[in-house]
Amino acid sequence: MPVRKAVIPAAGLGTRFLPATKAVAKELLPIVDQPLIQYAVEELVRAGITNICIVTSSGKEGLADHFASAGKLEAALARTGKLEQLDSIRRLHEMAEIYSVRQNEPLGLGHAVWVARDHVQDEPFVVLLPDEMLDPQRNFLGEMLNVFDETATSVVAVHEVPHEEVKLYGSIATDDPSASLIAVTDVIEKPDPSVAPSDLVLSGRYVLDPEVFEILTKLEPGASQEVQLADALGVLARRRQLNAMEYVGRRWDVGTKAGYLKAVVTLGAEHPELGEDFRSFLRTFKP
Ligand code: UTP
Repeated sequence: MPVRKAVIPAAGLGTRFLPATKAVAKELLPIVDQPLIQYAVEELVRAGITNICIVTSSGKEGLADHFASAGKLEAALARTGKLEQLDSIRRLHEMAEIYSVRQNEPLGLGHAVWVARDHVQDEPFVVLLPDEMLDPQRNFLGEMLNVFDETATSVVAVHEVPHEEVKLYGSIATDDPSASLIAVTDVIEKPDPSVAPSDLVLSGRYVLDPEVFEILTKLEPGASQEVQLADALGVLARRRQLNAMEYVGRRWDVGTKAGYLKAVVTLGAEHPELGEDFRSFLRTFKP
């Protein structure tokens, strides 16, 4: 069955980015002129997925609003001849169908995905984490979807990190880490480096069989007392129903202050309108 739907979990508390994220959703922080949630939706649209369900929480209504039509603003832009801006606003509600569901309490990423089960129903689907950005010039998710089409087996993106950093992520176990399609045998969430099965960790991109909902329904809270998506993936892996593809390329943990700043500087320097000016500023910049 072709993959048509995606879930973007965006109901977390964003504690690593406080105080900025006290009143403003982390996913609305901009990288130059687009909020993180828009990068996430654009990545899905690039891969051909346009039915998108954002998991939100109280105070994060702005996430779905960003993609709603804005009659007054559009009329004002048309009246004043700001046609480029008008196009960029119209694109937001034309490029995808955006739905949202509420996660009433931040019980974990696995729980956030489970909350979207009625929207997804019995179909394979994508999960994309908006606080992990992959290179917007690439379409790695499209490559993952092609592999899913061929194998009909859940597939996740992984990337290699320095050994000490595995404790921040979900680490995969495999007998053949260098295969182009890696057969995953287990997934361990935030392992101590001394017991981590590998330095290949989950990158926030998943193409999943809907059986993951049944697994999540039965799952007990894991690391940090949260229902972990990684633990559900571990069940799939132990059933030999999980593959991984290694992403080699630029990525930013934009849910952390340092990762966010690096993304702003990099994508600012590459921005079609501002890039030249910003690059010359960077050349003369002396901290
Ligand atoms: P993170 O743990 O990276 O994000 O979850 P967070 O909770 O927002 O931020 P910190 O750790 O407190 O700084 C990864 C993704 O899962 C979502 C988050 O919104 C983020 O996109 N998430 C996490 C939920 O939707 N619900 C949850 O209960 C937990």
